[in-house]
Amino acid sequence: MAFDIDKLHILDETPIHYLPSMSRALGIQLFMKRDDLTPFGAGGNKLRKLEYLVKDAMNKGATMLITVGGGQTNHGRQTAAMAAKYGMKCAIIAIDEYPGELTANMLLDRLFGCELILKKSDGRPDSVQLNELVDSVTQVYEKKGEKVYFIPMGGSNALGTLGYYDCAIELDRQAKELGIPKARVIDTVGSQGTYAGLYLGLKDIKSELHLTGIAIMPFGEKSFKHLEKYCNEVKDTYGMDLTVDPSEFDIETGYVRGGYNLPSKEVRDAIRMVASKEGILLDPCYTGKAMAGVIDMVFEGKIQQGEDVIFIHTGGMPGLYTPSHREEFEKELMDGVHIL
Ligand SMILES: Cc1ncc(COP(=O)(O)O)c(C=O)c1O
Repeated sequence: MAFDIDKLHILDETPIHYLPSMSRALGIQLFMKRDDLTPFGAGGNKLRKLEYLVKDAMNKGATMLITVGGGQTNHGRQTAAMAAKYGMKCAIIAIDEYPGELTANMLLDRLFGCELILKKSDGRPDSVQLNELVDSVTQVYEKKGEKVYFIPMGGSNALGTLGYYDCAIELDRQAKELGIPKARVIDTVGSQGTYAGLYLGLKDIKSELHLTGIAIMPFGEKSFKHLEKYCNEVKDTYGMDLTVDPSEFDIETGYVRGGYNLPSKEVRDAIRMVASKEGILLDPCYTGKAMAGVIDMVFEGKIQQGEDVIFIHTGGMPGLYTPSHREEFEKELMDGVHIL
């Protein structure tokens, strides 16, 4: 079912590619849905959400987008690109430290003309500090005459979630065309919007695809409760005729590898495996971690040999240049650099 909600319609369908060498190495049939190839701001999953959110901002007469995240937020980078495209100002607010160099997403944010507001944590919960900072920054810009539209972390509110509801319908049709209508779909879970949208969309159309999320940061009872509430909010807001059943949430919580965006050897190995076998770049915070999870799931027998798997590549490649990750890669890769 399509919703009669205004969106920008600037994205084409993204392709699904078969990964032959990875499939051979893992003994599964591995496909990749290329949501990293969306065409603005270096691509990624947030553009599907921003199609709805930026249109809403424009309809409300906004002149500026403000959003929040970590300092290296991919969502912030894509928001900055959309603001640039539609002639709006943009600011990203993060409780984070400056890494000492303007690299990765932060560099790209500035190229898009976006302001970056970084505040070192004072020890209170990040959400509390962020809310305060968003209020004070919004006031500053509104005093200057801007009309601010606030986009929450990851674009994950009811409206943004429709972007992945739409993706679910696209995915189901593509899987049928490929002859893999019952494949397992792997999605990286951060602020939950992508998973929630896919869950609701697949359920609403009674798809036979099986959705498995891989959490990239600690995901406990509270997170499951949040996901249930969030899915119900989207369902109620848009009148979806379905029942959200938390027993259907299939989220792997054991592949977090220390915490959000921490460098990890297994994640770097997964990134190198996909890069060297398929010529495709994953990222160290989300998709590399999810692929390391897939590899473990295959070796633990959670994914069966021969199983059809569609991995959603949600983008994030600029994160490879984040100093903490790049420095670890450098230690492992310098043996192949020959300085004559
Ligand atoms: C590259 C990438 N993949 C996956 C995600 C997770 O998506 P969500 O926040 O909707 O759970 C993000 C979120 O920022 C991301 O940047």
